[in-house]
Amino acid sequence: MPAIKVLGISSSPRRDGNSDVLLREALAGAEAAGAEVEYVALRDAKIAPCVECNHCYRTGVCRVEDDYQPIFRKMIETDRLIFASPVFFMAVCAHAKALIDRCQCLWSRKYVLKQPLFPTVGRDRRALVIAVGGSRSRKMFDCIRFTMKYYLDVLDMKCAASLFVNRVDERGAVRRHPSAMSEAARLGRELADPSASPPKEPAEVELYSE
Ligand SMILES: Cc1cc2nc3c(=O)[nH]c(=O)nc-3n(C[C@H](O)[C@H](O)[C@H](O)COP(=O)(O)O)c2cc1C
Repeated sequence: MPAIKVLGISSSPRRDGNSDVLLREALAGAEAAGAEVEYVALRDAKIAPCVECNHCYRTGVCRVEDDYQPIFRKMIETDRLIFASPVFFMAVCAHAKALIDRCQCLWSRKYVLKQPLFPTVGRDRRALVIAVGGSRSRKMFDCIRFTMKYYLDVLDMKCAASLFVNRVDERGAVRRHPSAMSEAARLGRELADPSASPPKEPAEVELYSE
């Protein structure tokens, strides 16, 4: 059986930022479970915002050419996705949002043109969402939940799990968190486990402190 492909997308502007560290820990877990893993950092990519030209409503294709296209292909080809974002002003950060908004071409294919997205419709595609915020808030993850729900829907992916951690602010502080690192590794391993059945509901791991 070919190895399960796991794509990790890091959207934090800072390398070794907290969401980035958790993402790499989850990818290490997936790799330990036998997956073929790939890491992409959006901070190294040039992805323009959606210009709302609506070209994709007729073609299903985004005509803005930049680093979106290679990342688009990776998102389409992968079996599993791990998407990590810091919370910025109660939402995903700008790097993440630019990528997600460009997926409007997938929304158009699915809901306007009603074209199947992939050559192999019915594939078992799953995702793990990681988000980290500096404050005590728990509400800050609500917006991320909704945005990721609609993003994963256009990718024809099921959310298998999410990992939300509050009160980590300084770069890399999450390494000292009592359980976040081990939870990230565990969720990465489980995501890549070829014998695990598709989730009915996402497993929400919320590591909140006061
Ligand atoms: C522009 C900006 C906006 C932020 N907004 C929030 C926020 O709304 N709520 C919060 O709890 N933390 C907020 N933070 C703090 C970050 O979420 C926190 O530092 C997090 O650990 C960053 O993750 P990263 O290291 O993966 O980038 C903000 C930080 C920045 C730079």
